[in-house]
Formats: sequence, structure tokens, C-alpha cells
Amino acid sequence: MTTRSGFAGEGARATSLRTGETPRLHLHSGAPRAILALDMPADPPKTFYLETFGCQMNAHDSEKVVGTLVSQGYRQVQTVEGAELILYNTCSIRDKAEQKVFHRLADYKKLHSQGKRFGVLGCVAQQEGEKIFDRAPFVSLVCGSASYRNLPQMLVQLEAGKQRVTGLDDRETDECFETEFTARTNPHRGYITIIEGCDKFCAYCVVPFTRGKERSRASDSVLAEARQMADLGYTEIQLLGQNVNSYKDPSGKKTFAELLAAVGEVPGIKRVRFTTSHPRDFGRDIVEAIDSHPTLCDHVHLPVQSGSTRVLDAMQRLYSRDQYLERIAWMKEANREISITSDIIVGFPGETEADFEQTLSLLDEVEYDGIFGFKYSPRPNTPSLKLDDVVPDEEKTRRLTVLQEKQREIQRRRYQRHIGQVIEVMVEGRNQSRGQWIARTSQNKVLNFTVREGVSPELGSYVSVVTTVSFPNSLLGEMVI
Ligand code: 5AD
Ligand code: SF4
Repeated sequence: MTTRSGFAGEGARATSLRTGETPRLHLHSGAPRAILALDMPADPPKTFYLETFGCQMNAHDSEKVVGTLVSQGYRQVQTVEGAELILYNTCSIRDKAEQKVFHRLADYKKLHSQGKRFGVLGCVAQQEGEKIFDRAPFVSLVCGSASYRNLPQMLVQLEAGKQRVTGLDDRETDECFETEFTARTNPHRGYITIIEGCDKFCAYCVVPFTRGKERSRASDSVLAEARQMADLGYTEIQLLGQNVNSYKDPSGKKTFAELLAAVGEVPGIKRVRFTTSHPRDFGRDIVEAIDSHPTLCDHVHLPVQSGSTRVLDAMQRLYSRDQYLERIAWMKEANREISITSDIIVGFPGETEADFEQTLSLLDEVEYDGIFGFKYSPRPNTPSLKLDDVVPDEEKTRRLTVLQEKQREIQRRRYQRHIGQVIEVMVEGRNQSRGQWIARTSQNKVLNFTVREGVSPELGSYVSVVTTVSFPNSLLGEMVI
């Protein structure tokens, strides 16, 4: 369960995305990368359907999968019924997310007899491996995110009639898992992976097991992709990683804050976001970079997980409440107002009522602009599986409700202060029925707006809006001409 959407957390959210718009294909042919208009094969294309669950990392991985499949002569379709190959890019961060793919597979099992093939990609594929074939025998492809670059060979095997194809490569290599092609669906805002995997091993988290150890990508390669995207007309870039703050440039040229600043200096780039940060590795230099570079968005997602140092220790988070608050103080001392959001887990084994109260008091102290709240979910392989003092599910639910109600009140107050402010937004869409345009601020807040008759802002453009109404999760305003 979440209290608001629109920003990313450390691992993955159990949201699902049906990627379907006509993608723009980028050919990655070493660094710097070239962009190629693809010659489509003469044969009628094979069709595929892809549904994505989880975080931005998965969403971006899906762009790589789509790019690879299209380059192999496949065409993406919008319905399971219309597809020959049905793919799910999965998330295993919490049990509910993991179960979703098995529900989907059960729903569509009957289609297998019509000759359709099924593939499970992503974190559940990596975590469960060939066991997926036992649980869902009609699945033909199981492929973890480290193996997407081998998809072309796997597709050849599938097409040759092989019943079970797996790509569960070693995630311990130092390579970054770039595929040759990426199909970005949004023409204005795009992701760039800067670091894969995680070495933190927080006690509850499955990510180090599904995504392997940390591997950073060279800053020159990141910058080359950023410049290429700017040349294509992208104005917003989101740097992605499970823990972007532990970025270590393999060429030794740039720290994370320097890389952030350099991407912000790429001509044409107006907004740079990054997700996700880990408090332990979050340095003051990041705040200084945000302060001195207006193109770096004034929003930091800094997951705290708990307000109790005792629970943080049990979670193996490697910081105390006070150390976390020190980082918050750096942001509050900045010249720009930085919006802060967080992830919080309730009901971690051994979390007492007093611990939970500390999380509530932390909400008051920090005054987040948004949180994602989660009930602790035991995950395979994780150290917290062995902990006693399990919090009953009803109690977790109660704590989550209390947490979310408190945060809603904080947000109601915090969003109100934008009333009367003129804020620059990027136009993202149109809500015809409400007669409104959908847009987002640099702080990552949704600020929808109306326009005077005859005015029609372009998608992807930046306009100024005066805020007139506030809600706990969004703002409403009028475009300023
Ligand atoms: N149970 C509940 N929430 C979890 N998260 C990660 N692992 C678990 C788990 N086992 C949450 C954390 C993380 C976010 C992406 O998901 O809050 O920051
Ligand atoms: Fe984030 Fe910790 Fe999981 Fe790494 S192990 S992805 S730091 S929650």
C-alpha cells in the first residue's frame, strides 16, 4: 500500500505498467552510442505483449526488452489475446507483488493451448529460476534482468520450438547490463541506469539476491547517453540505481554528486532526478550540487524505513535516527527548498508500539511531502526471516493506517503552502473530462492546471502555473501566460 505515487523507492513498487506506445529505438553500439533507424524485416512480425510490475528499474528494463524484441522483428501489441508471446517483467520486493505474476499466469493459462508462449522476466525469474516451470509448466522462458542482452539468442531457441529456455546468468560480473537497443516510450523524460545491484543487504530486502552485487557504469558512458537523449529532444533525465549514492565511477573520474552536476549541465537538459538514495551514503555534496544547479530537481527521496534506532539496527540499515536527521538538516539548510519523501516499513519483527511511536514522531519532525508506507513482508533468503517476535498482520495493518492518516494530515498542510505560488511545470498529459492539463513540478508534485480558451500547451513543454487549490497529493492551478 502506498500513500502517494509518482516517485520511486529503493526497491520496487507493486504497480503494473503496460508498455504499449510506439517506442523510439536507440541502438547502443558501444560508447558513445549511435542511433539508428531500424530496417524492419520483410516477414510479418511476430507479436508480443509485455506487462511490467514494480519499480522504475523494472520499467526501464522493460524499455530495454521492448527495444531488443523490436530489433528482432517482433511487434508490441496491447492485448494478451493479440500476442503470440506474452511476457511479464516481475517484481519480488513483497509477497503481494510476487503473487501477481502467478495470478496473471493462472488467468491466461488457457491461452497456452492456442499456441501462445509465456515468459517470466525480472526479479521473480531471477529469484525462483527453473522452479517457475514446476509451478507454471506452460511457461517457456524464464529470464533474469542480467540476461536481457542474450534475449535475441533465447528468442531464436523459442522460435525453433525449444520448450524451456532460461537466462539466469551470473549477476556477479562487473558488467552493467545494457542491452543493444532501448525503446523509450516517453519522448520527453527518460531513464538512465547508473548503477545496478545492491551491496547493503538490509535485513528485509530481497534486492541483493535478485539484482546481484553493485556495479557502476562509467561516467563517460552515462554522459554520452544523456547527450544523446538531449539531442533527441529529451529534457528530463532520471538517473536510476538501487542505491545511487554508492555510485563508484569505474574510471574514477566523477563522484555521484559530480556526475549529477555534469548531467545537469548537458545542454538541453532542464530536469535531472535521481533515485534511490540510501541515507548512509547520502553526502552533503549532493545537497550542494542541487543548490548550485537549478536543473537538478529540488526533490530527494530518502527512505528512512523506521524512526527507531533500535529497529534500524535490527534492519541493518547502518545509520541511526540522529544520523538520518542530520541529513535532513543538510537539506533544510539548503538555499533551495528541497522536497523530501521517504519509504517506511511497519511491523518489522520486534517492532514495539514504542518503536512505532518513534516513526510517527519522525514524520512530525521531518514533515515529508510524501511517503510510501509498507507492511513488512518476509522475503526468501533475507536475514530477517530468522527473527522472532513477528508482528501480527492485523497489527501491521493498524500501524500502516495510523501512519498513513498522520502523513495525510502533514501533506494536507504542506501542500497548502503552494497556494498563490507561480511554479514551473512540465506538461505531461491532458484530462479531457476535467478540462485540465496534467503536469509535474520540479519537486515531483502533480500540479494540474486549466488554460484560457484557445491556449493549448504542448506535451513536454514547460509552462508557469499559479497554484489555486491544494489537496494532500496534488495541486491545481491556472496557466500564467
Ligand atoms: N517488506 C516490506 N517492504 C519492503 N521494502 C523492501 N523490502 C520490503 C519487505 N520485505 C520496501 C522498502 C523499500 C521499498 C522500495 O520497499 O521500504 O524502500
Ligand atoms: Fe535498498 Fe537495503 Fe534493499 Fe539495498 S538492501 S535495495 S539499500 S532496501
